[in-house]
Amino acid sequence: MDYIDFHCHILYDMDFDGPRKVEVSRKIHEMQKEQGVFAVCATPHYYPWNEDIDSFLARRSAALEKLQSAIPDAVIYPGAEVQVFADLPMQPADRMCIGQSNAILLELPFTPFKPWIISAIENTVFKYSLVPIIAHVERYGLSVKDLHKLASIPHVIFQVNVESFRSFTAASALRAIYSLGIPVILGSDAHNVTKRPPRFSIASSLLAKKHGFADFGRAEMLESSLRAQNDVAKRLKIKV
Ligand SMILES: [Fe+2]
Repeated sequence: MDYIDFHCHILYDMDFDGPRKVEVSRKIHEMQKEQGVFAVCATPHYYPWNEDIDSFLARRSAALEKLQSAIPDAVIYPGAEVQVFADLPMQPADRMCIGQSNAILLELPFTPFKPWIISAIENTVFKYSLVPIIAHVERYGLSVKDLHKLASIPHVIFQVNVESFRSFTAASALRAIYSLGIPVILGSDAHNVTKRPPRFSIASSLLAKKHGFADFGRAEMLESSLRAQNDVAKRLKIKV
């Protein structure tokens, strides 16, 4: 299977909860390759209370250069997992897009969903003509009503963590997400090779078992993500 990992903490020395050493980043890359991932969006966390965007981008550029020279065969598109905050529309969010695209990966606060979150995203994407990708949308415990509000943001794309497909408790959230008609793409959200490694093998085994086992619709959801992957790749200027 040929996957694009749209959300991954593969850069080392970037995240407080990500790899500290090149060996870990290299191992993440090796695992991705074994699992059929051919391109990766490197999306370190951006928290506005920690640093400004200039400082973040300078660190990211140095981290990318170091990693790319250590694993030159890796196809890596630089991005960020940008925390949504009320003043986001006041920031140069267009500088945080993935690669040469106008798509930005946004992480919602893990606090109860509030209307300002939609306003902050909409005002930011209108201001800079961005395509918002909502990171691991299944992880916030959103109601169907709130999912509909997110789905109403123009051009929005949802990203889910492939790991969530092994969880039966996430199945109803995934079904609600996939029923909205929004493109849903996959990411590993890998942070290391132990507790949070790349897990695209879950997708491959669900897809392979499609006709032999009851999978509660997960194979169909994954197939829809693989179809969405190629369309989204074009919009993100990722070579397929
Ligand atoms: Fe992440």
